[in-house]
Amino acid sequence: CATEEFSGKTVLVTAGGTQENIDPVRYIGNRSSGKMGYAIAAEVQKMGARVILVSAPTSLDVPHGVEYVPVDSAISMQEAVESRYKDVDVVIMAAAVSDFRVLNKADHKIKKMDSMTLELVKNPDILQGLGVHKTHQLLVGFAAETQDVVAYGQDKVHRKHLDMLVANDVSKSNAGFNVDTNEGYFLYPDKEPRVIPNMKKTELAKCILTEVAELMKLKCTK
Ligand code: PMT
Repeated sequence: CATEEFSGKTVLVTAGGTQENIDPVRYIGNRSSGKMGYAIAAEVQKMGARVILVSAPTSLDVPHGVEYVPVDSAISMQEAVESRYKDVDVVIMAAAVSDFRVLNKADHKIKKMDSMTLELVKNPDILQGLGVHKTHQLLVGFAAETQDVVAYGQDKVHRKHLDMLVANDVSKSNAGFNVDTNEGYFLYPDKEPRVIPNMKKTELAKCILTEVAELMKLKCTK
């Protein structure tokens, strides 16, 4: 992918796993390390884009030259993404966003008890909201699936109005959460799926951005 395809473009990347507080010391989280999203942010910055990295907590170093926006919960990620949306050209949502949050989070540490029940409520679907309000932006989602990867992924492409989706099979030990490699499929609204063989996330980041550059070119010529 040539550097000039991203120069003058603003790319917003989300990464990491959101955290939903139960009380001041406990949260509901997931296994996302942020590696996939950070690899994309670092690569597209090298390709000349202005990069906004909206990141849930991770233990990774922030890539050089990116604008870092730290968030924790799904609601805080939604606010960070939506408030910048009108000024970005491409959104790549690699974050693992919690589908639920705790209805009544405690102000103080919950004391030990024999059992407890947490009531969860649905979080907003950030990507779907972006899809509904899409104007000029190119939208790339991810899907973490454990079965029927293509069918479930393709459903997300249509429901979330995406230009492209990276569907990864997270049931494999060398793909998905908290490993250095990934594999799966590129899915599109109007093209056949493409198989992504297993490769390092840093390499996959380059492949994703090559696809995005192609889609940007097509958009320009339409
Ligand atoms: O961080 P790593 O350890 O490197 O792992 C990478 C990864 C497995 C987290 C990444 O490759 C990945 O698959 N990210 C998406 C995980 C996920 O939330 O998948 P999903 O199928 O639940 O969501 C589909 C899409 O909608 C995603 O782009 C997600 O960011 C978005 N979403 C989901 C729920 C929600 N409430 N709001 C959203 O915007």
